[in-house]
Amino acid sequence: MNKPNDLAIRATDPNDIDSNASHDNHFNSILNARLSRRNWLRGSAVTAATAVMGSMGLSACGGDSDAAAVTPTPTPTPEKLLAFTAVPKSLADVVSVPAGYTATALYALGDSLRAATPAYKNDGSDTDFDNRAGDHHDGMEYYGLSAAGAPLASGAERGLLAMNHEATTDEKLSSHFLHVNGGTTTLPRPAAEVDKEVAVHGLSVVEVKKTGSAWATVNDSAFNRRVTPLTDVELAGPVRGNALVVTKYSPTGTKTRGTINNCGTGKSPWGSYLSGEENWAGYFTRSAADNAARGDKSVVSLNRYGRSQGAASRHGWETGGSDDKYARWNLSKIGASADGSDDYRNELNGMGYIVEMDPYDKTRAIRKRTALGRYAHESAAFSVPTVGQQLAVYMGDDSRNEYIYKFVTTAVWAAADANPADRIATGDKYLDSGKLYVAKLAADGTGQWIELSLSNALIQAYGAYKFADLADVLVNARLAADAVGATKMDRPEWCSVNPANGEIYYTLTNNSNRTVNPSGSSQLAPDSANPRAYTDMKGSSAQNGNPNGHIIRFKEGTGAAAATSFTWDVYLFGAESGADASKINLSNLTADQDFSSPDGLAFSPYTGICWIQTDDGAYTDVTNCMMLAAIPGKVGDGAKSTLNYATAAGGNLAVDTFIGKKPTADTLKRFLVGPVGSEITGISETPDGKTMFINIQHPGENTALANIGDPSKYTSQWPANAGYGAGKRPRSATIVITKNDGGRIGS
Ligand code: FEO
Ligand code: CA
Ligand code: CA
Repeated sequence: MNKPNDLAIRATDPNDIDSNASHDNHFNSILNARLSRRNWLRGSAVTAATAVMGSMGLSACGGDSDAAAVTPTPTPTPEKLLAFTAVPKSLADVVSVPAGYTATALYALGDSLRAATPAYKNDGSDTDFDNRAGDHHDGMEYYGLSAAGAPLASGAERGLLAMNHEATTDEKLSSHFLHVNGGTTTLPRPAAEVDKEVAVHGLSVVEVKKTGSAWATVNDSAFNRRVTPLTDVELAGPVRGNALVVTKYSPTGTKTRGTINNCGTGKSPWGSYLSGEENWAGYFTRSAADNAARGDKSVVSLNRYGRSQGAASRHGWETGGSDDKYARWNLSKIGASADGSDDYRNELNGMGYIVEMDPYDKTRAIRKRTALGRYAHESAAFSVPTVGQQLAVYMGDDSRNEYIYKFVTTAVWAAADANPADRIATGDKYLDSGKLYVAKLAADGTGQWIELSLSNALIQAYGAYKFADLADVLVNARLAADAVGATKMDRPEWCSVNPANGEIYYTLTNNSNRTVNPSGSSQLAPDSANPRAYTDMKGSSAQNGNPNGHIIRFKEGTGAAAATSFTWDVYLFGAESGADASKINLSNLTADQDFSSPDGLAFSPYTGICWIQTDDGAYTDVTNCMMLAAIPGKVGDGAKSTLNYATAAGGNLAVDTFIGKKPTADTLKRFLVGPVGSEITGISETPDGKTMFINIQHPGENTALANIGDPSKYTSQWPANAGYGAGKRPRSATIVITKNDGGRIGS
């Protein structure tokens, strides 16, 4: 067994991987960024540099007395969206929301989902995570219930939260907050630690209910569900039954085991839950001699998806024991079979999809919708359904220099499917047959959707990889997109469709590989759609490339959802408000609006507000991550601009781009700032727009393993410091946000 490189595991942020290039990765810059961030966090003692206006902290605002005071006669003020006072940037270890709003922790890592599982002690001794909330709450959707508990889309006082549990807070191999003394950091990993770490990944469904004005989860609800990386999952669509997914677990290639590293989400027009598998590759190991053992094109595929031979797994789960549930984390070709039915050489091909779950029926198996392609998925956003027309599903691949995709259904939308008898069968109808496209953006503000199939001559003739059939194209969507010359983007995160006009918004969170003078194939010069390359200082640490990210938006051309052309502009550029407005702060963000590394993004179907959330490491010397409320315009409402860069050779690189209309104080405003070390994610609301649920992921993530057991050294103690739950270890959690006057969120 190879001993993994501990530093590499710790240093490689799994959200910040690139595989689309020669693999001379940016180990040192990533490591330096990590270390400087950690040092700052340790040295700062978390002093709140700014007043936390109206935040009150959770302990001050979540009490029953507040609830009692506002429940009887809420008197909503006449609604004006974004009328709240902007929340200042903050380094405080609390959730800050505007005056007049209340934010309360609701559902945290380890919370029990059934009566037989005891309350969470939060000291590393807890077990039975198959029946508890998972870790690293991420994308999330709300599904209404009637007062009697039947599925009812309009149900606003009782419902289900379905959510992703993306990952764990790690140091070296261990998810250290989950173990009494931080766990083991060498191989082999003890089975008990592995079993716990595996079980906190996947999905959960939890019932929530409003009593008076207070929301709580419902322990032992018949709807409560966990899906883990060990749950039996059906493969659906063109890849089902293909030779590429034959494994010891499923010699017929029709099933796989579980889902992992689930990040963004989607809610289908037929009421199912969609979840994107993102950084799944890192959980698997591959032996140093595996290329020769294979001797076929699968080596090209594995390299392109980030598993070159000798790759160590993130946690070493393959060392937990001889049971098959541990063996499946080893991708090496070790069996004698010709088809892979005696080992897990093909296991990676069963990961990397959009998975569909019926949130209302825990007896139904979840399905991986392979027609939508295999990559580092984030959210899945549907076009506005129109009866008699095809649907589009917009998606992105979040790694540096990866692509934007859309899937167009073969089936046309039928109104009756908005309330179907069988949500999974309806998913089969729309998501198992259609065409997958990748985006190619031109410098003139137009773009093309290019179909990924063997009907494309460039894919047929691709020299680096010979595609056998459509399933091969879908499993190796990144290679097919390479073949057609798709546009490499600055890490596509979430996307969402503006319900007002059907335009599609994509967050491009950041990219350290943009540079005016690229060297090596992984670095890219700025282009029109990814036009910034600059240096932002974080203390004494230089953040190079596009460290603050931007938000691009598309308007479909003729054919709407099925269009093969579009126009685009950049809605917003993330930046510090004090940065150079001619080169960096191109959207003229003020101190009430400035943000870095947009990640979560979703339009409210109820208020129309575009909610923007950050997962940042560049501006975190000044502020914790945040959520903003926006009222955007439309593609083309701004102006063309040219950015000029001096090249090392003494020339000028001129990059034309298209900057959307600059926001005002009435169209973009910071709504929330999270606790120390957290990212803000998950955007869901009740259908009256009056309750919002979001997730606080990985508070205190830079707490060193050596400090486990000494709460005074945890970089965050949220939500315990807000009065939620036992122990002092920080926990990812869902929070519920309400407006004290009973009004809609964002007004
Ligand atoms: Fe899990 Fe790309 O964020
Ligand atoms: Ca800075
Ligand atoms: Ca994300």
